[in-house]
Amino acid sequence: MSPFNIPPTGSFVMQEKPSVKSQKIIIAIDGYSSCGKSTLAKALAKKLAYSYIDSGAMYRAVTLFIQQHDISLSQLEEMTQKQMEGLMDNIQISFHVNPDSGLSEVFLNGLNVEKRIRDLKVSDWVSPVSAIHEIRHRMVELQKGYGSHKGIVMDGRDIGTEVFPKAELKIFMTAKKEIRAKRRFDELNSKGFMVTLDEVMKNIQDRDYTDTHRSESPLRQAEDAIILDNSNLTEQEQFQFALNLIKELNVPIPV
Ligand code: DC
Repeated sequence: MSPFNIPPTGSFVMQEKPSVKSQKIIIAIDGYSSCGKSTLAKALAKKLAYSYIDSGAMYRAVTLFIQQHDISLSQLEEMTQKQMEGLMDNIQISFHVNPDSGLSEVFLNGLNVEKRIRDLKVSDWVSPVSAIHEIRHRMVELQKGYGSHKGIVMDGRDIGTEVFPKAELKIFMTAKKEIRAKRRFDELNSKGFMVTLDEVMKNIQDRDYTDTHRSESPLRQAEDAIILDNSNLTEQEQFQFALNLIKELNVPIPV
């Protein structure tokens, strides 16, 4: 019996495009926190009419569940394999396309949590949570499934190294810490989250450290990834940079 009294809410649902024997590819975008991975990934997915999956949103949704159930980080880290499996059996993550934006949003046990998972409280816990083996194992399994028909852009930390080591295009994004913190601060403020620049900077530094030092699938650049430092690039410039890489692969691009 699981300690979490949450009814199952149906299986994973994602609006898949019909599988044509296509020249569609997988685009893996990895990099540090807050360096604009999702902005680029969404723009590319839109341009190519591909699916977009924000893998960080999945770890954030798991973190939200843990916080909602008053499980502390130390309790989590002390769980036995069986307890951890029981916990994960109660967590259903799915993506559904928002008809207004055309983008996929993350659902936790049937509820849209796309906004709530951006809270700094979730950001503060998500790196240690995502370092736990059973959690990574379950999320990576789901992520691999999403790419089975190609035609997908996925961003995260281990997409080019673990999830899709054979992705046709891998981009590793980076930018100066101060610039990343300011961008994230502006974004959070514009969404109504009350945070200080110092808090955002600390969170970014802590996550960079945990994400690059964890034992399982640490953030690192895949050997065949192309580096994109966007410290001094506009969104349009970074988009153009990536689009040029796609053109070089002769991938069909809708006009
Ligand atoms: O992309 P993001 O900042 O929303 O990701 C939140 C956290 O999730 C990040 O600090 C590390 C973890 N993460 C991960 O371990 N592997 C991924 N593929 C994506 C995110």
